[in-house]
Amino acid sequence: MDTTATTLDPGHVESGQTDPIDTLPPNFRWGVATSSYQIEGAVAEDGRTPSIWDTFCRVPGAIDGADNGDVACDHYHRMPQDVALMRELDVDTYRFSVAWPRVQPGGRGPVNPAGLAFYDRLVDELLGQGIDPWITLYHWDLPQELQDAGGWPARDTAYRFADYSMLVFDHLKDRVRTWTTLNEPWCSAMLGYAYGNHAPGIKDFPASMAAVHHLLLGHGLATQRMRAAASGPVDLGITLNMGSSSPATDTELDREAARRADGLGVRIYLDPLRYGRYPADVVEDLAAQGITIPVRDGDLEIISTPFDVLGVNHYFSSAFSGVDEDGNTTDADGNPVVREVSTGRPRTAMGWEIVPEGFTELLVRLGRDYPDLPMVVTENGSAFDDEPDENGFVRDDERTAYFVSHIGAVARARQQGADVRGYFAWSLLDNFEWAYGYAKRFGIVRVDYDTQVRTPKRSALWYRDTIRRVRGNR
Ligand code: NOJ
Repeated sequence: MDTTATTLDPGHVESGQTDPIDTLPPNFRWGVATSSYQIEGAVAEDGRTPSIWDTFCRVPGAIDGADNGDVACDHYHRMPQDVALMRELDVDTYRFSVAWPRVQPGGRGPVNPAGLAFYDRLVDELLGQGIDPWITLYHWDLPQELQDAGGWPARDTAYRFADYSMLVFDHLKDRVRTWTTLNEPWCSAMLGYAYGNHAPGIKDFPASMAAVHHLLLGHGLATQRMRAAASGPVDLGITLNMGSSSPATDTELDREAARRADGLGVRIYLDPLRYGRYPADVVEDLAAQGITIPVRDGDLEIISTPFDVLGVNHYFSSAFSGVDEDGNTTDADGNPVVREVSTGRPRTAMGWEIVPEGFTELLVRLGRDYPDLPMVVTENGSAFDDEPDENGFVRDDERTAYFVSHIGAVARARQQGADVRGYFAWSLLDNFEWAYGYAKRFGIVRVDYDTQVRTPKRSALWYRDTIRRVRGNR
């Protein structure tokens, strides 16, 4: 990589103004994030068994380009090189996930030492380079056998998750301080079991609500057990994907649509996690559809077990209308319309509107509604259609501008009282973007999938320089 100092024109600060990023404290935590299935490859090595994503990738039409994670970034074989890259980018934290079917093939029973050994090596490599490992225990690669037994809509999966978590925790707790139970349970539940565009590809809304509950239960069980087994200080948490949901207009119908979106996007997770109850309005909306969340006695106490850090994944904010394109206020099933509408802002290659002020609003609101809970932005980033030059270098000005405005939005939220302690860019590498396959690139480092050559993009150099600047060029 080109390690010559690059002073990139920030191009975003009005003369006479201070860049909000420069208000971030020197001890602010800076990282990059990835996940197992998206980068590792080596899906049949060292005893790993299939996850629901290996299965889903074989469903015709499920993934753009019929792509799959069989090789991905080949990180399983290139891990030391990828850690060296992180070192060059000067990040202090690496957030990665552990593949359940590597560590406990089939999702039950004893540990698979060969699978766990990979994470042992990774953690040691990181520590050797002075980078803090931050483990996510579940980033969507559920062992296929557990899906065959019912998946997240089945209560037993929560207990299986807690058992698996302990296998990893007991082995690495001496070297890893921060543990995230679940990544984006909204995606696991809604995309996996309601909309069916993520594995396991099921379209069953009531099942998705059972999945929400069992994901939260799994989080609570794992948190309790990890806390009890900790041998030193640990930071335990969960990562949720959230944005601001605003009404498209000030009509009652649109305000109602925004309320519903926020209920199923934010409050159905954070209210039970922090306050030990599901939001009354959400419960009422579900009851109107004949759906009951399968809560048993004691579940909410487990789910509301205290934790130390809220991971916030943020990509976009949305405006909602309660009226569909044809003027209807209910859908074919008679349920109220909740329709995301365009506000005319520029979009990323994912089609997501770029709304940095929505990020500030979200973080300030989370700090207000769920106080006394430090936050870390565990993912933020953007996909654009990169065009490498003949050396593989991508001058990704749009992605860089996205980082500038969104890290600025975090700094503004802090100025308004939000307790945000760190920021992790999604993602270190271009990688397998789920149903979009390799077509969508989120990396700050380009991956040439033919050669597996990694080339830092302009955004990576900007990120490195920004980290150094904020730290005071230590
Ligand atoms: C959030 C998910 O955690 C991650 O896996 C995904 O690649 C990014 N969003 C971008 O869509």
